[in-house]
Amino acid sequence: MRGVERRYPGPPEVLALRDATFEVAPGEYVAMMGPSGSGKSTLLNVIGLLVQPTGGTYRLDGVDVGNLSEPELAGIRAQWLGIVFQAFHLLSDRTAEANVAVGALYGGAQLSRAEVRDRARAALEGVGLAHRVTAFPSTMSGGERQRVAIARALLMRPRLLLCDEPTGNLDSGSAAGVLDLFSELHAQGQTIVTITHSAEVASRAGRTLWMLDGTVSER
Ligand SMILES: Nc1ncnc2c1ncn2[C@@H]1O[C@H](COP(=O)(O)OP(=O)(O)OP(=O)(O)O)[C@@H](O)[C@H]1O
Ligand SMILES: [Mg+2]
Repeated sequence: MRGVERRYPGPPEVLALRDATFEVAPGEYVAMMGPSGSGKSTLLNVIGLLVQPTGGTYRLDGVDVGNLSEPELAGIRAQWLGIVFQAFHLLSDRTAEANVAVGALYGGAQLSRAEVRDRARAALEGVGLAHRVTAFPSTMSGGERQRVAIARALLMRPRLLLCDEPTGNLDSGSAAGVLDLFSELHAQGQTIVTITHSAEVASRAGRTLWMLDGTVSER
């Protein structure tokens, strides 16, 4: 990103990002920290192609994504991005496997139901939940739910995993499980950008970006 700006019209108008400039290389594990309201979620949503910048340049794998149509953006999102939100956003009346399979709906990829099911099971196994495939979210711990959300984000094998406070709602034991999972994914080459308020998360990441009033700096 070079000089990325995001203005929310309001009123009152808010300049949530101003001159955000940074790079993330393939395979990096980056933590993003900063006070409440500093623009972290906005930046994550811009990286995730869910919010359009109102200025500046954003290149993803060398492609300027600023002038693409919504279908083009959807295609790149499906191929490139897995997003984990702070609230898990699981469907309470669906099993873990069905929740993970939802990740294929956004994919646009032509997978058969059997392929989606196999991938969903493999993704759950990958986050240590092979034994919880048929469980409903209401019967799972916070850490387990978060790992289902991570499995869903990983279903389509995204090149970039984006997370907004993935351990924010978890007790310390569950948070440690999610952190171990991220370290494992990172060791396998997964590129990860995660917002966090936790010094422990930041210490596990290879690099920390610090946000203040809509700007990004290295720390
Ligand atoms: N959809 C929106 N419309 C208007 N203003 C918004 C919108 N989303 C965010 N903002 C404003 O943009 C600024 C940055 O918000 P953002 O959610 O990116 O902060 P944050 O760093 O993620 O904060 P937190 O740590 O509390 O989650 C804030 O002033 C916020 O009120
Ligand atoms: Mg936020």
